Amino acid sequence: MATLRTDPEQSRRAPKLRSVVVGTGSSLPARVVTNAALAERVDTSDEWIVQRTGIRQRHIADESETTSVLGTQAARAALQDAGLTADDIDLVICATSTPDHTFPSTATQIQAGLGIHQGAAFDLQAVCAGFVFAVSTADKFLTTGAARRALVVGAETFSRIVDWEDRTTCVLFGDGAGAIVLEAQEAQEAAEGRGVLSTSLRSDGRHREKLYVDGGPGSTGTTGRLRMEGRDVFRFAVGQVTDVIVEAFEQAGTTAEDLDWFVPHQANRRIIEASADKLGIARDKIVLTVDRHGNTSAASIPLALDVARRDGRIQAGDLVMIEAIGGGFSWGAALIRW
Ligand code: UT7
Repeated sequence: MATLRTDPEQSRRAPKLRSVVVGTGSSLPARVVTNAALAERVDTSDEWIVQRTGIRQRHIADESETTSVLGTQAARAALQDAGLTADDIDLVICATSTPDHTFPSTATQIQAGLGIHQGAAFDLQAVCAGFVFAVSTADKFLTTGAARRALVVGAETFSRIVDWEDRTTCVLFGDGAGAIVLEAQEAQEAAEGRGVLSTSLRSDGRHREKLYVDGGPGSTGTTGRLRMEGRDVFRFAVGQVTDVIVEAFEQAGTTAEDLDWFVPHQANRRIIEASADKLGIARDKIVLTVDRHGNTSAASIPLALDVARRDGRIQAGDLVMIEAIGGGFSWGAALIRW
């Protein structure tokens, strides 16, 4: 049975490796809930939601569509897209804040669902920044030779933790899952070579009260409900998050002008466009799915990547920036040569 371990001697001798995206997949619950349908439930309107957020609809999971079910479907689609089978994967990382159970991890359920019996699987929790943190983590395993192929999944059912009486939050979120397969390949030259070129992660726990869930197994013994100071999160997102993007560009020796696609966390159209403007990223390079998916937290970036790759926008060789901020706060960016 294969295990994950790092052999320092082997690492020194090994060729320089990069983590290359070889497949993408996604899964959305069947049920679509429009803004008009939400307006029947809370005091809101399609006009307010579209104007303030850009969201027009979201997918909401039924009881059978749990985070691990959606995550397994997305991961299976990514495997198929890559032309690989369960035997080829030796690392599964699932970014989620809405696991089916407190434990075991959703990643192990996805692993079992796909029939993967080797390597390791674990969850990673960095809320909306979870997928970027998971890509960065998988990249460390792959580029040190500790794993060969990783399934990196973002899967969420935020509809289970929003307060459906609170119009300031319940209109924002949706459910879904996305996944990519990363493969360790011998590095080609500099920024022209395929793979994850750079990642930059940050956290600052002093902002806990701005965006959190008011329960948990170690405090209330309940799941809790999502609470957010929307205006403060908005300000922080536009004001701060660009530091990790600038750093990711600098590390890779590239600039916003070199970028083909900007695939940010899909929380709010206004945040996305303000961030792009600040960074000098042309608006026609933005991949926007918040209108269809709402904010699916850790799932939003891999969902958007899968949409843009399958509709032909993202092509091999393109330079793609992913970026997110979420509760904590935690935020990060990763620059990928597709
Ligand atoms: O993924 C994690 C990160 N999360 C985010 O990125 C979310 C960040 N924040 C935001 O996207 C925005 O702050 C919101 C979309 C949540 C809110 O937009 P805003 O422009 O900051 O609105 P606001 O909170 O300043 O509220 C403006 C008004 C208020 O009424 P008053 O006090 O001016 O009379 C709210 O009570 O809009 C009211 N309001 C609503 N009205 C209709 C708040 N929610 C709603 C609603 N429908 N759903």
